[in-house]
Amino acid sequence: MTDWQRIDAATSDLPAPLAAVDMAALTANADDLVRRAAGTPIRIATKSVRVRGLLEWALARPGFQGLMAYALPEAIWLVRNGATDVLVAYPTVDRDSLAHLRADPTLASAITVMVDDPEQLRLIASAPGAGQVRVCLDIDASLRLARSHLGVRRSPVHSVSQAVNAARAIVAEPATRLVGLMFYDAQIAGMPDTGADVRAMKAVSAHELRHRRPRIVEAVSRLCALDMVNAGGTGSIDVVADDPCLTEVAAGSGLFGPTLFDDYRDFTPQPAFAYALPVTRRPAPEIRTLFGGGYMASGEVSSTRQPTPVWPEGLRVLPREGVGEVQTPITGTAAAALRVGDRVWWRHPKAGEVCERFTSVHLVDVADDGEVRVASVPTYRGEGRCFG
Ligand SMILES: Cc1ncc(COP(=O)(O)O)c(C=O)c1O
Repeated sequence: MTDWQRIDAATSDLPAPLAAVDMAALTANADDLVRRAAGTPIRIATKSVRVRGLLEWALARPGFQGLMAYALPEAIWLVRNGATDVLVAYPTVDRDSLAHLRADPTLASAITVMVDDPEQLRLIASAPGAGQVRVCLDIDASLRLARSHLGVRRSPVHSVSQAVNAARAIVAEPATRLVGLMFYDAQIAGMPDTGADVRAMKAVSAHELRHRRPRIVEAVSRLCALDMVNAGGTGSIDVVADDPCLTEVAAGSGLFGPTLFDDYRDFTPQPAFAYALPVTRRPAPEIRTLFGGGYMASGEVSSTRQPTPVWPEGLRVLPREGVGEVQTPITGTAAAALRVGDRVWWRHPKAGEVCERFTSVHLVDVADDGEVRVASVPTYRGEGRCFG
């Protein structure tokens, strides 16, 4: 039996569309992230999971420590549900949530917010409440070669002197306390190894960061004591983990193993997350139409952002329709044998994003005695939460 058949059989009584997690693959992926982090604690990127039960499952494993949330209201919700260490990786302008943070000492001690601009500092300082806000400075980890910028467009703080100036501004602001630095190397972590040119760019960028990061950490450490220096993502933890100036690495997608990580040369996560769509129509002998499916991934507009049918094997999306808003036609060698009510399994390009389409995920586990167990846990959506 292939894994897909096992997952399909284990969930056959459940109504589709449905999302499932193969716990054996999830466990193997978690272990591999820990191996690649080589002793450096992994902060879990929540956006790449969006299931609180699975965040707690991963946090309980040795090697994982702390959460990297994507929104301040999310971080507040996580702390109110027991989390004790949450870094919000992207700046916030949410005044209500900042007011909650400044008014509640439990939140203020557990949550760290991201900044890279004096205007964000002013916003934090203007929020009502007396509490000091823990702040992390986002350092632009992109590679700048001549006039080209390789990496994401986030923080303007790139050089040692820019970092020191930004840190001085935070230290001078009574409402904030600078506790961390973050260096997210998207051009390494988020870039599949599609050719020699990409490999070369990644090597140059890793080398540049290996020199710039410790200089920035050292210079900022002269102004204040840093609790955390974070870097990396699923695609780069082994590249950054042995840098002694880091206290932690970040990763999330590597748990679910989405298709965007199929083409990395140095590691291969197992597909741990998939979803099933039911066949509802037979418009032609060689075509079947499924319910749902239009879950394109975010990012640049390209076919790499389209989900992939993986089981039964030999199915593909029709290029002129793609994955549809409420229906998705598919074709291929396996299509003719599919009957109304059968299910087709899909993998998504990204990890947590597709959880916004499901209220629960079904965890499929094979016990030691061979018995297959299925437990269901709510996604963020299933808990009535939507953070954007
Ligand atoms: C700041 C930051 N750190 C780390 C990551 C890596 O996340 P993942 O491991 O899910 O790719 C991301 C992803 O976008 C990020 O924005």
